[in-house]
Amino acid sequence: MGMKVDEGGALGAHVAHFGEGSGVAARVFAAPARVNLIGEHTDYTGGLVMPMAIGFRTIAVLSPRRDGRAVFYSRNFDGEFSVDVASVSLDRRGEWSDYPVGVLWAMVQAGVEVGGFNMTLWGDVPLGAGLSSSASVEVATAMALLDYARVELPIERIATLCRRAENEYVGAQTGIMDQFVVTGAVAHRAMLLDCRALTFELLPLPEDVRVVICNSMVKHRLADVAGYGDRRGEVEAGQAVLRTCRPGIELLRDATVADLEACAGKMSAASLKRCRHIITENARVVESRSALMRGDVVRFGEIMLAAHASMRDDFEASCAEVDALVEIAMLQAGCYGARITGGGFGGCTVNLVRADATEAFVEAVIEGYRAAMGILAECFVCDASDGALALRAAAGVAKAGQK
Ligand code: GLA
Repeated sequence: MGMKVDEGGALGAHVAHFGEGSGVAARVFAAPARVNLIGEHTDYTGGLVMPMAIGFRTIAVLSPRRDGRAVFYSRNFDGEFSVDVASVSLDRRGEWSDYPVGVLWAMVQAGVEVGGFNMTLWGDVPLGAGLSSSASVEVATAMALLDYARVELPIERIATLCRRAENEYVGAQTGIMDQFVVTGAVAHRAMLLDCRALTFELLPLPEDVRVVICNSMVKHRLADVAGYGDRRGEVEAGQAVLRTCRPGIELLRDATVADLEACAGKMSAASLKRCRHIITENARVVESRSALMRGDVVRFGEIMLAAHASMRDDFEASCAEVDALVEIAMLQAGCYGARITGGGFGGCTVNLVRADATEAFVEAVIEGYRAAMGILAECFVCDASDGALALRAAAGVAKAGQK
């Protein structure tokens, strides 16, 4: 699965950059990437999502320094950025450093006392592919900083801090899904997350299927003005109409298709379609949970396809390349379902494939996509991995308030 980052390599890069002494008291944390099986664009209106963590990851190495400065080194970008911890302020630069500095900023805002440090970040998460490279960097950074500050926080607090970094510092108006699953995922399980209650259920994945991710190689950026932000605006406008038109509805999560139809005349055609996607998508997550619980992968696959059609036609967040990838996937033997995953406007598809058909599937999809679009796709066969918490548990940090 692409280049593998490892602890030894990350530590080596840290020492090479910051000098011999920096290896001695270094802490090493890792946070994975994620893929969303179903439940797209439901998170920021309190809905349901079903992501899992995958084997790509970001490693953060931290060692203390005495002068109160925070020095970040990115091995991927071979760049360094530093700031005084005491004076870190909302000052985005529009580059890689915004993610870790944003997390430091959010921590300081939350009253976490952090001393000076050197940090190396190194990851193998494909960028702009919709696999949450940003949440992976944020959560790895947060884990290292919390351990350094000797503060232990529950999953939802870590996720909320990282989301705040993404929303306010980086400037991408995302929901909580990515940061939450990257923090709290468990190996061999998908996570059904209720984004309103911030409670979750871990669901077993059938043994005889594999999750295959296919990258269309069409890049997206969540902070771009068009795309994610536009859709979120249309969704929120529709949600505001529902709130006034149907008392008792606070979030789109509370609404049914009948509610939407009753208020349809009061909202724009775009908001109507976006809200219809979200309402039906929440229902699809509930149904796919039942399918998973009874081991019905055929039904799960059908629901994935319906979810793709909804993202394409109602949410209008797919693109020709990704649609082609889904169509090609569905022509292959052993493929139960395929859909666009992540924020949309490019990025990856997620496919549910019978285990013994996986190799042929990958070959055929790459060849079919090359023939149809002239682009070389990258496919990854994934296992559901642990989130960052598993590593933190091993570190044995002090409880919050005990410092
Ligand atoms: C991105 C965001 C998430 C979520 C998805 C769409 O990954 O970061 O919060 O909104 O898009 O489901």
